[in-house]
Amino acid sequence: MVESVEDGKQATLPAAQEQRRVLPAGMLKIFLAFLLLCVGVALSAFGVFLARHAVAVAATAPALFLGAAQEPEEGPMERWTRAPSRARHAISDEELLWLASFAPRARGQSGYPFRRVPKLAFMFLTHGPLPLAPLWERFFRGNEGRYSIYVHTMPLYRANFTSDSVFYRRQIPSKAVEWGQMSMCDAERRLLANALLDVSNEWFVLVSESCIPVFDFSTTYQYFQNSSQSFVMSIDDPGRDGRGRYNLGMSPEVEIYQWRKGWQWFQVDRELAVAIVKDTLYYPKFEQFCRPGCYADEHYIQTMLSIENPGSLANRTVTWVDWSRGGPNAAHPATFGGGDITEEFLRGVREGETCLYNGQNTTVCHLFARKFAPSALGPLLELAPTVLGFG
Ligand SMILES: *[C@@H]1O[C@H](CO)[C@@H](O)[C@H](O)[C@H]1NC(C)=O
Ligand SMILES: *[C@@H]1O[C@H](CO)[C@@H](O)[C@H](O)[C@H]1NC(C)=O
Ligand SMILES: *[C@@H]1O[C@H](CO)[C@@H](O)[C@H](O)[C@H]1NC(C)=O
Ligand SMILES: *[C@@H]1O[C@H](CO)[C@@H](O)[C@H](O)[C@H]1NC(C)=O
Repeated sequence: MVESVEDGKQATLPAAQEQRRVLPAGMLKIFLAFLLLCVGVALSAFGVFLARHAVAVAATAPALFLGAAQEPEEGPMERWTRAPSRARHAISDEELLWLASFAPRARGQSGYPFRRVPKLAFMFLTHGPLPLAPLWERFFRGNEGRYSIYVHTMPLYRANFTSDSVFYRRQIPSKAVEWGQMSMCDAERRLLANALLDVSNEWFVLVSESCIPVFDFSTTYQYFQNSSQSFVMSIDDPGRDGRGRYNLGMSPEVEIYQWRKGWQWFQVDRELAVAIVKDTLYYPKFEQFCRPGCYADEHYIQTMLSIENPGSLANRTVTWVDWSRGGPNAAHPATFGGGDITEEFLRGVREGETCLYNGQNTTVCHLFARKFAPSALGPLLELAPTVLGFG
């Protein structure tokens, strides 16, 4: 070996001769057997890859011939960090929360020793159908690789999206949810835990089937990327529907001055998402003492995070809603149908208020809005390109 490296002439010999010269016959056989084994493994791995990615390979084949040389090589970490292509799995809730509880929580590239494009995870908490899906499809189009989608439905519902939809195979194993009960928070934790298993997901947004995006994808993405805080509404409301829902049984984990309230629709980063899925301190208290009359989805995450990570919270939501219809004690906010959707209405939702963003006043306070009926879809699709900036 030393000889062949040092002697320039021998180093230029064809590989087979070189092997014969430097390796005894016995070792050569072992080497050849090893070589065959390597080729076999590589071929079968390629076969599995082809089977799994046949569609993607077919779709990208022209690109491969046209300009693949400039594409960055898939790094060796890709295999260990790639998210599963379908959201369905057979892991129990307990196993899932455990797995997600030690997911990496670093922000940005610096916490990861490999190239990572941060993704915005959309978590759809729904009964089943997504009547506004065509609007979301247009919102996501062209942004592949920067988002991921998870859909929680009623347990027996089977979504019916075709393989060209962004919602195809994005339904996670789900359980029944009752309005205002702890099962609602269970669904939120289930969504977060599933999304945390994809190490590329950096921000996590909870939306519903009646939500719409009101800015284009890039603006939405940058709004979270540029923000120093997460958008969880968490306020101290002294009234009957605020501190009035506190139960002394929660002490000492939660004292009344720590009790918070806010709408359910949140956005959190990885650090907060991990804090939520790994919580075993506050969860049992809310499960036992936040019973109807107290709506767990308006208090649990809001209170827990304001005790554990107060500096990370903007204390406001980015999801617009209108409580003005139906009077001050309405149980549900207004739902907007086809007749309500005008350019003026949408502009009001987009920039009709002032709020703080990174300590500065801004009129861009809401990235999403609710609640919209299926009849709103047509007018929304029509106005999206000119008013919402996509479609
Ligand atoms: C599934 O899709 C087909 C064709 O798009 C439609 O006819 C059918 O009603 C759908 N089923 C459900 C349960 O949505
Ligand atoms: C985010 O920051 C970048 C760079 O500073 C800026 O160009 C962009 O407009 C910002 N986007 C938003 C939505 O704040
Ligand atoms: C949000 O509220 C917490 C207390 O619950 C506070 O510590 C934090 O500074 C507030 N954040 C902002 C942006 O006001
Ligand atoms: C934001 O605007 C309000 C009035 O609308 C003003 O009182 C406040 O000082 C402003 N805050 C900043 C940080 O500019």
